[in-house]
Amino acid sequence: MTRVPARVERLASVDSTQRVVRELLDAGEPEVVLAVADHQTAGRGRHGRTWVAPPGSALLVSAGFRPDGLAPRHGWRLGAIVALAMLDAAEEVAGLRDGTLALKWPNDLVADGPDGRLLKVAGVLGESILDGDRLSAAVVGIGVNGSWREAEIPADLAGSVTSLHLLSGGRPFERDALLEAWLARLEPRYLALRSGRFDAGGWSARQRTTGRRVEVATASGTVAGIARGVDPESGDLLLIDETDGAARAIGSGEVVRCRLVELPGRRGGVAGA
Ligand code: BTN
Repeated sequence: MTRVPARVERLASVDSTQRVVRELLDAGEPEVVLAVADHQTAGRGRHGRTWVAPPGSALLVSAGFRPDGLAPRHGWRLGAIVALAMLDAAEEVAGLRDGTLALKWPNDLVADGPDGRLLKVAGVLGESILDGDRLSAAVVGIGVNGSWREAEIPADLAGSVTSLHLLSGGRPFERDALLEAWLARLEPRYLALRSGRFDAGGWSARQRTTGRRVEVATASGTVAGIARGVDPESGDLLLIDETDGAARAIGSGEVVRCRLVELPGRRGGVAGA
């Protein structure tokens, strides 16, 4: 019987919770094993980027899964359920109105900012462990900006991130309550996934990119166009390429950066997150 979690490693300071969970899985630890840190000295983001959060300001957690029977092509769904569970948990614990938080493909949690901007609240990093053509395990980490005040946001992130504290109008950030609320929502989603069910409707409906003009950078170039939605089978972003009007699908593994870029005269200009 799967338990979420089976074990929780609580760490004051660590390089990355992703590394801790990966090593626990490699040592044979059963799922779902968690590492939660007050601080990371080498927090990892997607595409080799760093993830920075002052000590105690964020929920920094990685979860190790052994998703028997989940096809490797559906491995991205672990990141999706982590994000969906956190979206609901964060809205409840921070006392936010339903719909305050949304997903930005592939798996960021965002809130609407000024001028049509999307402000990032949380990011998800998924790392698959393959055994031949089997997905033997996966480490999925999420970092949630919790207590940041405006003045604490690093200059290079200003205008593109926010925190639960700011969104809630100044409520104290309750990290442990958020962790508990997230786990309570993650367990049913994970058990469903193990039984072959995925909340495709919920995942699609919460995408803030849908119907908006996006610019997606991949290793092979940048594509711009109107996002039509997401494909719950492949996890791809579906868009109409504005250069030739062709329908395109972009894989979540390909994207280096995805941002909203409104057409001139709509929603106040350029927006990104
Ligand atoms: C991204 O948006 O680029 C993903 C960020 C993921 C950050 C989390 S924080 C907990 C876990 N440990 C890490 O080193 N990274 C993830």
